[in-house]
Amino acid sequence: MTHDEAKLAGGVAVITGAGSGIGAGIARRAGFLGMTVVVADIDQASAARVAAEIVAAGGKAEAIVVDVSKHAELDRLADLVFDKYGKVRLLVNNAGIETLGFSWEIPAERWEATLNINVHGVVHGVRAFVPRMLASGEECWIANLASIGAFGIMPTQAAYLVTKHAVQSFSENLFLELQLAQAPIHLSSVIPGYVKTAIFAENDRKDEPADAAHHRQTMSAMMQNHGMDADEAGRIILEGVAAGRFWVSTHPETTKQMVAGRIAYFQDQTDPPLRPETRELLGY
Ligand SMILES: NC(=O)c1ccc[n+]([C@@H]2O[C@H](COP(=O)([O-])OP(=O)(O)OC[C@H]3O[C@@H](n4cnc5c(N)ncnc54)[C@H](O)[C@@H]3O)[C@@H](O)[C@H]2O)c1
Repeated sequence: MTHDEAKLAGGVAVITGAGSGIGAGIARRAGFLGMTVVVADIDQASAARVAAEIVAAGGKAEAIVVDVSKHAELDRLADLVFDKYGKVRLLVNNAGIETLGFSWEIPAERWEATLNINVHGVVHGVRAFVPRMLASGEECWIANLASIGAFGIMPTQAAYLVTKHAVQSFSENLFLELQLAQAPIHLSSVIPGYVKTAIFAENDRKDEPADAAHHRQTMSAMMQNHGMDADEAGRIILEGVAAGRFWVSTHPETTKQMVAGRIAYFQDQTDPPLRPETRELLGY
């Protein structure tokens, strides 16, 4: 445990989407650090499993079912947690889904779910929790999950990437607002590279275009072969968050390369490049 992480010990951590993957990795690490962990997820069984793992390891945790795509659910989550514990030291707006396919083929409901979970879930997590964090007058931490994809573009991944660009922008602006308001709240934008999780796992999502299955399988295999372990990601992320760093990356060198490529592209103002390897990856 680092000196900074020790400041989290004894506090309450609320982590959305903590029933799987990166959220579960962060939740287990928070439990290890001595936090009381609220494992919030739309999937009751997986939230209960992660909470039980934390308790079995000697930590404190409870599972709460929440659908972050509904802003009233985030208000309900904040009510439940503040009523029960009085304070929240750490909020991680992590829940997210992947959506693949040509933009014009993705059904309207799937577009809305992706925007509601990945963007509005983060925005309304902040809206529901920050006023009560401010009222407590105590030092708090918030982490919003963007992605290395916040600095990239990819055909047939627009629905997901547009949400990650949005979350990155939201966090940058929110950081300034917290400074302006002299809030005692540290804000991190978490930028994972590939982490081995279930985000690409469902090969036959009925609400995705049929063409998306190939891309999903390719990405799933790449993630399983080259992705970082979710517990390692959770450790790296909480270390950076506890240190109050805005930029928290699991793969800092890759992030730097992506950002550098993006800057060059903006400066050159070329058309968005469709590379042969992208065609190959997507099977076109
Ligand atoms: N895995 C990666 O390589 C990677 C890379 C960059 C960013 N991310 C981001 O990390 C976050 C976590 O992704 P992951 O890879 O661990 O995915 P995952 O699919 O393993 O876990 C996501 C969790 O979110 C939950 N969830 C989905 N919809 C929800 C809703 N409406 N309300 C509450 N919970 C909901 C799921 O039940 C699941 O437990 C996402 O925001 C994702 O975009 C992941």
